[in-house]
Amino acid sequence: MSFFQDLRDLLTLERVSHVGPHQYEAHSGQHDGHSTSGPVMWARTESSELVNPDGNIFNAEENLIETRVRKELPAYIPEGVRVVELGPGTFTAFNKKTLLIIHALKSTTCTIVDKSHAFLKSIYDSKALLGIENLEQVEDDFFQPSRCYHDNDDEALVTLLGSTLGNMLGPLRDKLPEAALVNALQNVANATRKGWLLVSIDTDQNGERVQAYYKKQEEFQLNIFDRLIAAGLVDKRFKREAIEYDTEWRSSSGQLGHMAVIKRKLKFALAGMEVVLRKGQRLHLKNSFKFKPEFFEKCCNLAGLELVKVWSDDSTTQIWLLKKKPLSAQLIVEQRPRYQPQRELRTALAA
Ligand SMILES: C[S@@+](CC[C@H](N)C(=O)[O-])C[C@H]1O[C@@H](n2cnc3c(N)ncnc32)[C@H](O)[C@@H]1O
Repeated sequence: MSFFQDLRDLLTLERVSHVGPHQYEAHSGQHDGHSTSGPVMWARTESSELVNPDGNIFNAEENLIETRVRKELPAYIPEGVRVVELGPGTFTAFNKKTLLIIHALKSTTCTIVDKSHAFLKSIYDSKALLGIENLEQVEDDFFQPSRCYHDNDDEALVTLLGSTLGNMLGPLRDKLPEAALVNALQNVANATRKGWLLVSIDTDQNGERVQAYYKKQEEFQLNIFDRLIAAGLVDKRFKREAIEYDTEWRSSSGQLGHMAVIKRKLKFALAGMEVVLRKGQRLHLKNSFKFKPEFFEKCCNLAGLELVKVWSDDSTTQIWLLKKKPLSAQLIVEQRPRYQPQRELRTALAA
């Protein structure tokens, strides 16, 4: 869906938790006199976390990949397989994590899939520098069903790092999100027909710590509203300063909801449509689920993924290697892709 459709659904309370991918997109919006474009905001978050000595998602994952995964992965996966990276993020993240995996497996072919054109471009433009012979880019939403980016019988490795799986869709809830997680795992595993999924998760169940971590990201989490103004989609009555960021932690489900809170009544036109948001209204932007390992393992099984290896250390980050189980003939027919990455790519490059 387009930025406008997704924001309209958020502001009219039609749908929840679905605007995360737009937070990483480039735009000309500003806040307090500086750019709040998605890639700029995310790169700022990443660089401040990388110098933060506390255990956190960025450092912990890089450590695990650098010290363990890249050395041990070749024992499980044959040399030269294609790597399909879902949500590579910044050039820095790709360079420090995915590239180590690509080199460890002596892979020469890689497909990167992201909704953020800016991230794809920054990695694609440096492909000679990265030394990847065959790099394809696809601008797409990989959490959607029936997305396959490597439609042949070769086994390939799908990577989903940065705890991005935790951003799966779903309303605020107190029950464990079993169906949603199984569904998300199946969708991302279907990025290829055969092979493995390497996925990082955050297992932290300490609500105070989890909330404190995200509270530092207010400008990043709210940058979609600056874009709404810059794109002229709302009239002057829409006041950005009437919106603040908050988090909501549900301990029984491990759900961290990213919320935009309306501080005073807002009445404005959204592309000509009158919208009223009352004081205290909470708009659910996105999720960052934190998974308990035993629950995660159960859902992997239900999703048809066999556990091969878990890498963990004293941080709360874990990296799981899962193997796709053979599908029945009927499922293969149903899950064959109807999707043309190359056509999407041309559209994206032309934009
Ligand atoms: C949390 S960041 C992780 C980036 C990087 N993998 C890392 O480890 O730092 C999520 C990445 O996935 C992309 N992304 C998030 N949701 C997406 C979706 N539904 N479809 C496509 N890309 C998505 C974002 O643009 C961003 O590049």
